[in-house]
Amino acid sequence: MEDIILELLRQEGDFLSGEEIGKRLHVSRSAVWKGIRKLREEGYEIQAVTNKGYCLVEQEARYNGKDLTAALKTEKMGRPLYFYEETDSTNACIRRLAQEGAPEGTLAVADVQTAGRGRRGRAWTSPKGSGIWMSLLLRPNIPPAKASLITLLSGLSVCKAIERVTGLRPQIKWPNDILLNGKKIVGILTEMECEMSDIYFVVPGIGINVNTESFPEELQQKATSLRLELGHEVSRNDLLCACMEEIESHYAKFEAAGSFLPLLEDYRKRCITLGATVRVLDREPFTADVLDLTDDGELLVRRADNGKEQVVFSGEVSIRGLQV
Ligand code: BTN
Repeated sequence: MEDIILELLRQEGDFLSGEEIGKRLHVSRSAVWKGIRKLREEGYEIQAVTNKGYCLVEQEARYNGKDLTAALKTEKMGRPLYFYEETDSTNACIRRLAQEGAPEGTLAVADVQTAGRGRRGRAWTSPKGSGIWMSLLLRPNIPPAKASLITLLSGLSVCKAIERVTGLRPQIKWPNDILLNGKKIVGILTEMECEMSDIYFVVPGIGINVNTESFPEELQQKATSLRLELGHEVSRNDLLCACMEEIESHYAKFEAAGSFLPLLEDYRKRCITLGATVRVLDREPFTADVLDLTDDGELLVRRADNGKEQVVFSGEVSIRGLQV
C-alpha cells in the first residue's frame, strides 16, 4: 500500500490531499495516514500541510526495492523486483522463486551477498554498498543447447548499459566477462534448469563492480570498478535500470528472431576475443587464433597445434597478454 502512495506522490510532484489519495486507492483516509507514517518511518520525507495534503520532498533515490521499482521503465524485466539487504546468492534466490512459479522478468537484487558464486565453482566477492549483485528469471522458448546465447545477450546488454550511463567503452571477453583497460568489471554466471528438450528457466546472475574503492592485492591486476576507472561514483540505481532496459529490448529481438543474429553485429564490435590468440581451457587445453563468431555466438578458431579449424561452444578461454 505505501509503495503505491509513494508512487502517487512521486508522479504528482506536488501536494495531494489524503482524500484524493484515498479515492484513487479506494481506501480510507486513516489507511492513507498509516501508509504515510510507514513511509516516514522508512526515511521518506513527506510534508503535510492543512488543506493541501501531502507532498514528497524529493531526495536522491536510495538503493532499495521501492526506489528501484519506481525508477524502472521496463514492462517485464525487473517486475517484480525482490530486494535483499543481505542474502546468500541472488542466483539461489531466483532459483527458489522460479520453483515457486515466479514469472519471467522477476529480479533479485542484493546489497551484499554472503555466498556469491562465480563460474567454475569460484566465489564471487560481493561487498556491501558498492556493487550491483542481481539475478534475473527468464523462461526462453529455445532448446537447452542454445541457452548459452542468454549469456551473450546478458553480457552485451550490461556492456551497453555501462556505455549509456558512464560514457565508458568497455569490451566483452567472450562469452560474457566485461573488461575495462584489460581488467574485469562484470562477471556473469548463467544457471539453468531443463529437461532433454525444454528449458524450465535460465538465470543470468550479474555482478558489476560499481563503486568498489579497492581490491585485495591478489585481484588488483585482474579486477577494477567503474569508480576506479572514472574517478567518481556511479549511481547503482541508474545503472541497474539501464541494464533492465537493455536486456528487455535485446531479449525481445532475440525472441522475435528466434536467434542471436539481430544482436551479433553489436556483440562483435565489442568483443575483444575476436582476432586474439587464446588458450582454450578444455579438458585438453589448446592454443588457437580466433577467426570469427558463428551466427550462434560460438567461437570459430584455428588450432595452433594442427592448423585445423574448430568451433568452441562454451567454456573458459584466456586471452594471451591478459591476466583476467
Ligand atoms: C564469474 O565468475 O565471472 C561470474 C560471477 C557472477 C557473480 C554474480 S553476482 C549476482 C549473482 N549471484 C551470484 O551468486 N553470482 C552472480
